Amino acid sequence: MAQPTATGRELLEQLPGPLPVPQIIALNQPKVDLHTYRDYQWNGWDFEVPPGVFLPGATSRMIHERLLDGTIEVRDKVYAAMGAGLGVEAVVAGLRGAREVYAIDVHPGSVETTRRHYERLVGRRAGTRFVPVVADVFDGFPDGVKLDVVTFNPPAVSQPVSEDPDIVRNVCVGTPLLITFFEQLTGRNLLAPGAEVFVVASNTADLRGIARAAMAHGLRPEVHHLHEWDDAVRTYVFRLRQEARA
Ligand SMILES: C[S@@+](CC[C@H](N)C(=O)[O-])C[C@H]1O[C@@H](n2cnc3c(N)ncnc32)[C@H](O)[C@@H]1O
Repeated sequence: MAQPTATGRELLEQLPGPLPVPQIIALNQPKVDLHTYRDYQWNGWDFEVPPGVFLPGATSRMIHERLLDGTIEVRDKVYAAMGAGLGVEAVVAGLRGAREVYAIDVHPGSVETTRRHYERLVGRRAGTRFVPVVADVFDGFPDGVKLDVVTFNPPAVSQPVSEDPDIVRNVCVGTPLLITFFEQLTGRNLLAPGAEVFVVASNTADLRGIARAAMAHGLRPEVHHLHEWDDAVRTYVFRLRQEARA
């Protein structure tokens, strides 16, 4: 499938609006088992998924696979997995030889789960430092760190699909969370020169609102990858880079 190459205003015009509300709600019906222990297998690894921790899906794997095959290159780079969840991104980045791996999540249970899986599957490696961080986006993240690569599979669904706070945290906080993410990335000057930020979101989210918010904070979005599922869902991996400062 041809991948769109537009950026800026042209990209905004090309992005689809959100799917109809009933369809978004139907597609994102909460998993009743979020509060139980589950298992996840990927790339030959077994992960135990404790209660409250997000079970990766096909959207997660769009990032995981790109980290694994080097399409998103983290070797020798300072990398942050925002919304680390189960910890798959952190594990892959450690094994791919990132210089520093910051695994950030607002949910202490997810950060602890990431730490356990990282220690088990990666362990100590010369030249790679693992830093688990409990933070509300970057609120709680150390000052002075300059990130080369950031990935985020955010809970961007634009409609409330549950009143359960753990489901909301994992699925449907919506665009305001992305606004905070872009605001803090640039406002706190967290990006190294040439940094790349990857955000994955579908048309169950407000794609135009997300792209507009990035641009309002001096980040230039482009479509790194687009996947069209067979149910009208279109999932975009955006790559965002900071506009050159005058
Ligand atoms: C859709 S899940 C993605 C998890 C994992 N990265 C993956 O792709 O499988 C979203 C993650 O973002 C985390 N999250 C939600 N709000 C957050 C916030 N304000 N700050 C940091 N992490 C947050 C959730 O706890 C959850 O782990």
